[in-house]
Amino acid sequence: CLERHYKFNVVLKKTSRLCSSKPIVTINGKYPGPTIYAREDDTVLVKVVNHVKYNVSIHWHGIRQLRNGWADGPAYITQCPIQPGQQYVYNFTVTGQRGTLWWHAHILWLRATVYGALVVLPKLGVPYPFPTPKKEVVVILGEWWKSDVEAVINEALKSGAAPNVSDAHTINGYPGPLSLCSSQGGYKLPVLPGHTYLLRIINAALNDELFFKVANHKLTVVEVDAVYTKPFETTTILIAPGQTTNVLLTADRSTGKYLVAASPFMDSPTVAVDNKTATATLHYRGSLASTSTILTVPPPQNATRLATKFTKSLRSLNSVTYPAKVPLKIDHSLMFTVSLGLQTCASCANGNRVVADLNNVTFVMPKISLLQAHVFNISGVFTDDFPGNPLMPYNYTGAQQPTNMLTMKGTRLYRLAYNSTVQLVLQDTGMIAPENHPVHLHGFNFFEVGRGLGNFNPKTDPRRFNLIDPVERNTVGVPSGGWAAIRFRADNPGVWFMHCHLELHTTWGLKMAFVVDNGKGPNESVLPPPSDLPKC
Ligand code: C2O
Repeated sequence: CLERHYKFNVVLKKTSRLCSSKPIVTINGKYPGPTIYAREDDTVLVKVVNHVKYNVSIHWHGIRQLRNGWADGPAYITQCPIQPGQQYVYNFTVTGQRGTLWWHAHILWLRATVYGALVVLPKLGVPYPFPTPKKEVVVILGEWWKSDVEAVINEALKSGAAPNVSDAHTINGYPGPLSLCSSQGGYKLPVLPGHTYLLRIINAALNDELFFKVANHKLTVVEVDAVYTKPFETTTILIAPGQTTNVLLTADRSTGKYLVAASPFMDSPTVAVDNKTATATLHYRGSLASTSTILTVPPPQNATRLATKFTKSLRSLNSVTYPAKVPLKIDHSLMFTVSLGLQTCASCANGNRVVADLNNVTFVMPKISLLQAHVFNISGVFTDDFPGNPLMPYNYTGAQQPTNMLTMKGTRLYRLAYNSTVQLVLQDTGMIAPENHPVHLHGFNFFEVGRGLGNFNPKTDPRRFNLIDPVERNTVGVPSGGWAAIRFRADNPGVWFMHCHLELHTTWGLKMAFVVDNGKGPNESVLPPPSDLPKC
């Protein structure tokens, strides 16, 4: 195994999109940021040097960080932020994982521009469980605001209202040839007829789940969240913020240019239609510059059935080499409601502000990192009484307004015994309105054993759980007005964040953390902290 060394200078870079420019926070002046390459079991060392006025931290999304939360990155959860002028080396080993992951800033809304791909190749000599592609390409989807993104969210927090939505979606940093201001042309993917390409698609958007398709080409899904799936063919994929999807695309035309489109999926009844489609071009080498691009129509924004069909098609590969180790016996059976609520706020225009919560708890960020508080036994930072089940009755379908929209604040964690097994049902409640919530768990992969619309029924729904080959991932899209059930084994000591990967909902408090106890054995406790761990 190798050591891979990278240097990340956090610097401002003046960047123009949509015919206007602004300075953005970048890594090494690049937007999207540099791709990190490693092989399974390699050790990656990234020296991050902060040259901007903001506090910074970087998360390696999907890397399990076994016993090594110190390198996980969420600010105030596993580390204090890297302050202006300071530096920190993220040092982690990619144990037993291979596939497409990504990295992003994990503080404030800096991840709007501070993100990039993290490609973990199989060990040398180990083939993919699918035909070797001619070429591999990273396709990273994002969102662009013309104004300063930190100002957008800070104003919203002050007023208590929702912030301005982004001005465009992007593919590899560009809104693309169909955007209002299209002179930059957008990302171009050159292909040769007859060859197969592996697209490593990442959704780095702040707040939108996205559909992705290529005109007149089929996509074969082979991996999600760095876990191989049973291959299946589709014209459209659905990808939520935080998720990654590898697809094979065979260039089975002989010539021409074809539109690539990424468009939002939102089926909440209250979210306005905002069909901002990011576009790019797949072009066959040798096609004349004058050839017109073959277009594709993006799915409607509220294409719930298409979304459900895609999600239900995902299955673990579950082969002899890559078995699905689904926990069958459950130690902790948990249920969390996922919702938006209201809190009174004297300075806000309406006398209250929108907040978000899990089981009625709106998470309050601590002043020092939870992992430090846990490992060094610092009291008064968190409590470990996060409710394992809803405290109050709800109408999960959203047909009626529940009366308990007020939430309580707290830095409350849920404690799991090392190596215990967990089943967690995430139920969207629609307290204000039902909405999709891509919930991401740090430190673990989990199996998505079931999902459905409406209320979870604890008697009948578990009978239909897939315990054979459920998809294994790190971010699950909880459907609007529905539920998703996940299972995992708490085999990673530390403090692990769980939150909605819609940055707005995280900001509003839709987050909590699990603490997995230090055991006594050598593999059951957290590694010692690195000497350069930032201080608060
Ligand atoms: Cu990709 Cu805690 O996030």
